[in-house]
Amino acid sequence: MCGIVGYLGNRNATPIILEGIKRLEYRGYDSSGLAIIDGNKNLKIFKESGKIVELERALPGPDETYGTIGIAHTRWATHGEPTKINAHPHTDSQKRIALVHNGIIENYQLLRKKLEEEGHSFESETDTEILVHLIEHFCLEEVSLTDAVRQACKLVEGTFGIAVINRDNPNEMIAARRGSPLILGIGNDEFFVTSDVSAIIIHTKRVIYLQDNEIVTIHRDGFEITNLENERIDAKISEVDWDVSSIEKGNFKHFMLKEIFEQPISVQNAFRGRLMEKLSTVRLGGLMMNGNELKKIKKIQIIGCGTSWHAALIGKHIIESRARIPVEVEYASEYRYKNPIIPENTLVFVISQSGETADTLAALREAQARGATVMGITNTVGSTIARESDAGVYIHAGAEIGVASTKAFTSQVTVLTLLAILLGRMNHLSPTYGATFIKELRSIPGKIEKILEMNDLIREIAESIKDYTNALYLGRGVNFPVALEGALKLKEISYIHAEGYPAAEMKHGPIALIDENMPVIAIALKDAIYDKIISNLQEVKARNGKIITIATEGDKVVKKFSEHVIYIPETMHILQPLLSVIPLQLLSYHVADLKGLDVDKPRNLAKSVTVE
Ligand code: M6R
Repeated sequence: MCGIVGYLGNRNATPIILEGIKRLEYRGYDSSGLAIIDGNKNLKIFKESGKIVELERALPGPDETYGTIGIAHTRWATHGEPTKINAHPHTDSQKRIALVHNGIIENYQLLRKKLEEEGHSFESETDTEILVHLIEHFCLEEVSLTDAVRQACKLVEGTFGIAVINRDNPNEMIAARRGSPLILGIGNDEFFVTSDVSAIIIHTKRVIYLQDNEIVTIHRDGFEITNLENERIDAKISEVDWDVSSIEKGNFKHFMLKEIFEQPISVQNAFRGRLMEKLSTVRLGGLMMNGNELKKIKKIQIIGCGTSWHAALIGKHIIESRARIPVEVEYASEYRYKNPIIPENTLVFVISQSGETADTLAALREAQARGATVMGITNTVGSTIARESDAGVYIHAGAEIGVASTKAFTSQVTVLTLLAILLGRMNHLSPTYGATFIKELRSIPGKIEKILEMNDLIREIAESIKDYTNALYLGRGVNFPVALEGALKLKEISYIHAEGYPAAEMKHGPIALIDENMPVIAIALKDAIYDKIISNLQEVKARNGKIITIATEGDKVVKKFSEHVIYIPETMHILQPLLSVIPLQLLSYHVADLKGLDVDKPRNLAKSVTVE
């Protein structure tokens, strides 16, 4: 959840690491800090609570912050409040060693007690401070900093991505990981460490994704990777294929808005190269399964959290209806504690934009421990979920920086829809259906563009609901999970309480809430259950509910009872979520923006939740 950046090279580290953590601010933003070692071997630490801009304001002039080695951190508090004292970097007793940490040290209380008995005293309430004192404990005269880090890592339980510097040796930085992402960036005569490539790609695209229990020792002229047993590791250097523009806001006010507007391209990227016109089917090479193996699948489980879980619910609907394979969708946080049943011939999917969500990762490991083959559906190349899955599919949405997931959702839904068609064509679906699907899917990016043209209208509608404190989202069938997603988007960035419901279920309880103070956002598209949802909306109207309807172009009926109608182009039933979610994303965005809220960094949230 936190973000880490370190630099060792010939340039001034401070602006580089500061800029780096700013790019990671979406991962955690309640306090921040940095440490540098200057030319006289002084270790200088600067920290502030609040957003990184507070740290930036508090920094003294360039002469005071100059150093060619430095580490920085942006925090999402787990242990201890987001105060200046709890902010990273933390230091040892003698203020020689500084450390930044992403993760959680689970046995920190036990370690703290032992260290206190040895005479260590602690300033903060964090688990991280224990780690730097533990390194100090091992860092005796004849022991290298790398070995001290290695010894400390062996004792620690939990997750960590760390970067460590020692003022006695300004030519060396150590970084290590277990469970939290950590990447080494290799530049020209300079090195970077980071928890997320977006912090460093303006400097280098050559990276090594460190594996669990690996330690990298960086010197000015090179680096060495070892493991906890002190064996040397030959790691592969990868080239990041992201464009720098993908991590810039460009002309957009917020990343979220930019990412919503990127969806015509990101959806296309999710299906690019995967449609097989000649055979009227699709190909998902990343699954690395041949036809025989795919045909043996009798059951599917899809596991995820938040928006990814909503995408999974849509996947369930489409896979069950088109491929006739039963699908269970599970909350990752519940999965491993429920003694899950994984029958033979079940294929398990874990779905995660970041590829680092702790609950999803734990579910992946649990499913593998039970002998299941686990496929990853993720956006993040080199992420832990991508590496630990048996195989999988990338969604290719590009960097998603806004904490509210938007383009990743439509890309996830696209990939799950492709999976449904792949399996469906092997079972029941005709070539004609496959061909129609391919043609229609190709038209989706253009249809999303048409919806995006209604941005101004949607802002006006947002103006009319921004002061309400509750909202109800209704949908049916494949659009019910879209209603859930619309409600999640609204609550996470505008702090308006919102619920998603299957429209017909409303009369079993939530209808009691309907009055003139309850805006109801309904997805009522022309399909087999259209008439049913119209009846549900009449029930809302009869109770003075204020209805905003997402309707199919040309539908005149909905106008009669809706305060506002957002018309979207017609498409095949199974592709509707790719269109119906777009106005809901825009609506939430504009409500939050009109309320003057920090859309990209909503309170209490972080982009990737790497704690359980
Ligand atoms: O990176 P993941 O897809 O695993 O993240 C899962 C959820 O934490 C995430 O979707 C969260 O709900 C978003 N803030 C939703 O916008």
